Amino acid sequence: MGLTPNCRAGHLRAKPDMRRLIVADAKAMADIHAASFEKGWDALEMSTHCRKDICLGLGDPLSAFIICSHAADQSEILTIATRPTDRQKGLGRDLLNHTCDTLRNLGVADLFLEVAEDNEAAKALYRKAGFSPIGRRPGYYRRANGRIAAITFSKKL
Ligand SMILES: CC(C)(COP(=O)(O)OP(=O)(O)OC[C@H]1O[C@@H](n2cnc3c(N)ncnc32)[C@H](O)[C@@H]1OP(=O)(O)O)[C@@H](O)C(=O)NCCC(=O)NCCS
Repeated sequence: MGLTPNCRAGHLRAKPDMRRLIVADAKAMADIHAASFEKGWDALEMSTHCRKDICLGLGDPLSAFIICSHAADQSEILTIATRPTDRQKGLGRDLLNHTCDTLRNLGVADLFLEVAEDNEAAKALYRKAGFSPIGRRPGYYRRANGRIAAITFSKKL
């Protein structure tokens, strides 16, 4: 695996390369998803996504991944998650940037996503990556303690 050296606080850190995920990654994707959301997607669902969608990941073992659907010149981020122990190290930002490049090369013009209104970390991540809020869907997500709105974001690629 190629590594990009990155110096911080006097130590040599290494960031893992981006890779296209395959069915063999489905269990690791499901583990990260279960640790990140109230209702996780299982390994079977993840293998279906690996076959039909754009699934990109960082690290082996996997540290972070993203799944995007893609049709004509539009794409939607279906999920993105970083393993809890690997958060706030820039992996989510790297994934998003690389995903935008990949989709642009495929001819995608507009990228969309939905995020729970109270997910401050994800909203900050998207805003920093150049996404803008374009709508609000009340009661979109079901939670153990009730329903919560989704904010729709988009970005021109
Ligand atoms: C949202 C998530 C993917 C971010 O991944 P990450 O690898 O930690 O993100 P990064 O380290 O690349 O952070 C990039 C930017 O996101 C924002 N961010 C990340 N974590 C944050 C936090 N806990 N609080 C506030 N902002 C945060 C910051 O703006 C950060 O930029 P900065 O480092 O210059 O301040 C991660 O928190 C996660 O997996 N959450 C659970 C799953 C989830 O909510 N997915 C999104 C569903 S729509």
